[in-house]
This record gives sequence, structure tokens and C-alpha cells, in this order.
Amino acid sequence: MATKRISAAMEKALNTQMTQEAWQAQVYLSYAAWAEENHYAGISDFLYKHAHEEREHMFKILKFIINRGGKVKVDAIKAAPADPKDLGDCLKKLLGHEVDNSKLIDQLTDLAHKEKDWAALNFAQWFVKEQVEEETLFGNLLDKYVLATTKKEGNANLYEFDRDVAKAPQETAVPQEEKF
Ligand code: FEO
Repeated sequence: MATKRISAAMEKALNTQMTQEAWQAQVYLSYAAWAEENHYAGISDFLYKHAHEEREHMFKILKFIINRGGKVKVDAIKAAPADPKDLGDCLKKLLGHEVDNSKLIDQLTDLAHKEKDWAALNFAQWFVKEQVEEETLFGNLLDKYVLATTKKEGNANLYEFDRDVAKAPQETAVPQEEKF
């Protein structure tokens, strides 16, 4: 698009969120690798898929910036955090990352509202809804983990838990080849 229809502040905020989503993908990728190294095949598969979903979020923002005549800035991504201590820690941290991301989406939504940029507001609202789904998804997984590990049978339930996670809903498959 030849004409720019977002403000400089909105362009900056969208680029920042694009980088944030790229970082989220790196977090999921690193935790997926950690899970696979620790023989949680179902959990690693789930997390690899989710890393791909985060990259789709990043790409969705990139396309919106371009479609509104803005300039995309592909920035450096900070390193993924250290490995979690155990599976419970992994799920707690992922839920925490999603809650933090929701706050950033809220800020983006707030800016769109303040600027009366209804196109950006409409766009941001897709992410508001998505964040509710993601917080719910990881909150539920954490609840299941607590159930699985506090029963008398103890660690034997982790096998079932791992299998359940493999069946948890995901919007995308494990990436094969990029089709973007
Ligand atoms: Fe794109 Fe899980 O936030």
C-alpha cells in the first residue's frame, strides 16, 4: 500500500508486538526441546505445534502492518529463558508468559482505542480473544497436571497426562515446510 494509514506510535507498537510473538515462539520451541530431551513425547509435540502457532501470530501482525501502509521492522529476538525445573514448572511458566502477553495485547488495544483507529482496534480484538483461549488452554493443562501428580498413584499418571496433552486442541500441525 502506498499510503500510510497507521500512526507512528501504532506502527511501533505493532512491530514491538510482532517481535514479542516471535519471542513467544522461541520460548515454546525451547520448552518443546526440553520436553523431548526429557522423554515427554506428547508434550514436546504439543509445544512444537504451539511454537508454530506463535509464528503465525507474528506473521499476522506483519501482514497487518503492511496492509495498513506501515513499515515492518524485523528486530532482534531476546534469548529464550532457562529450562524449567520440571513439568509443573514448565506449565506454570507458560501460563505466566501467556498472561504477560495478554497484558501487552491489552496495551495495543488501548492504544488503538485512544487513537480511534478502528481498523487496528478490530485487529487487536482478534488477539484479545486468542489470549483468552490460550490462558484457558494452559490453565486447564496445569489443572490436569496437578490432578495427575497429586493422586495416590503418583508418577504413573504422568504417562496418561503426556498422552492427553498430545490430544489437546491446536490450531496448527507440526510444521513441515513453511508455506508462507
Ligand atoms: Fe501469541 Fe500465545 O500468544
